[in-house]
Amino acid sequence: MVEAEIYLDAAATTPPRSDVIEAIVEAQRKAWGNPSSLHNTGVKAAELLERLRWELAQRFAVVPDQLIFTSGATESVHLAIVGSAAKLTPGRIVVSGVEHPAVLAAANQLKNKGWTVAFWPVDALGLIRLECLEELLAEPTRMVSLIAAQSEVGALQPTDVVGQACRARGITFHSDATQLIPQGCPEFNHFQSDLVSLSAHKFQGPRGIGLLIRRSNLSLSPVQGGGGQEFGLRSGTEALPLIAGMAQALSVLPAYHLSGDTVPPGSGADVRRQRDDLLQELLEIQGLSLLGPNVTQRSPNHIAVLVGSAGGQPLSARAMVRELARRGVACSSGSACRSGQRQDSSVLTAMNVPEPWRQSGLRFTLGPWLDDKALKQVPERVLDAQRALS
Ligand SMILES: Cc1ncc(COP(=O)(O)O)c(C=O)c1O
Repeated sequence: MVEAEIYLDAAATTPPRSDVIEAIVEAQRKAWGNPSSLHNTGVKAAELLERLRWELAQRFAVVPDQLIFTSGATESVHLAIVGSAAKLTPGRIVVSGVEHPAVLAAANQLKNKGWTVAFWPVDALGLIRLECLEELLAEPTRMVSLIAAQSEVGALQPTDVVGQACRARGITFHSDATQLIPQGCPEFNHFQSDLVSLSAHKFQGPRGIGLLIRRSNLSLSPVQGGGGQEFGLRSGTEALPLIAGMAQALSVLPAYHLSGDTVPPGSGADVRRQRDDLLQELLEIQGLSLLGPNVTQRSPNHIAVLVGSAGGQPLSARAMVRELARRGVACSSGSACRSGQRQDSSVLTAMNVPEPWRQSGLRFTLGPWLDDKALKQVPERVLDAQRALS
């Protein structure tokens, strides 16, 4: 029998729960109609859509029309940034130096509309430098976008502090919470954000569905036209089965109060302990060192290390990922590979990691599907992979 892969790549995507798959199948079977149709089949679908919107709104303590269903975080981020910029006088958008490429792409789209883009510098741990706040939020800043939990190095950013400062200055604030929500579901107000983006497949929901949550009365323009669904803000027939799956996946996430110094509880009762244990064991391997903040400022399922040989020479994280895949461990590296050319991780570059190490960031992200027995095998396999490359 082929041994199942030990899946440690939750930040890339997560296995859908079986109750999620059931919810998707049931919605597809029983409410397959178009919610905009006026006949009974359509009305049944519209009723389910509104019930699910209401359930999801309850989880975030918002009213249902604050939720906009999208195809995932990439689209949510674009609607948030491009859609709210269209309602503002062009000025400056500030994004952190460690954002997901979706945020960078959306911010760059504003350049040909008269906006400038500024980067919020981060420290060596990947946390934004709060001492830059006054300067960055001065005129002509009109929008800020900050990743709530950084995907590559796990840094939990002080979104509440930045959000409050933006609100006091009338600056629109968007928070990309794609990697934070899987670790627990705070109420929308705790973000101190005008806009929050998320994607269901990062918390064991289906691929291709996400949410943009907006502050009541926040003015947005659609980025695509069509049938006028989602309050005219996101045209396209609603993906009801996927919405049902997202609602189911979200319903099992723990609730918590988000504030600057709280680490979210994590997606399962044991995830944080398992992460702590694995991290400790990995750091005992000579040549591996912690990348990003310590556990008090890090996502509770997240491990990132710089991987070198036992002799201290940097190793390619991509090569490690391949070696580990051969050994039945799924994890990921931060550095990109474009047209066959390996590139330094832009996140590690922003963190000022010394140049030879910028392709050595290795990430393990955990979830509730893992058990202690499987995790116990990981350090030995990492050691073995490291030896194979040294
Ligand atoms: C922080 C962050 N933002 C946005 C995205 C984009 O999500 P999706 O691919 O579901 O659109 C991801 C996915 O990796 C992410 O980690």
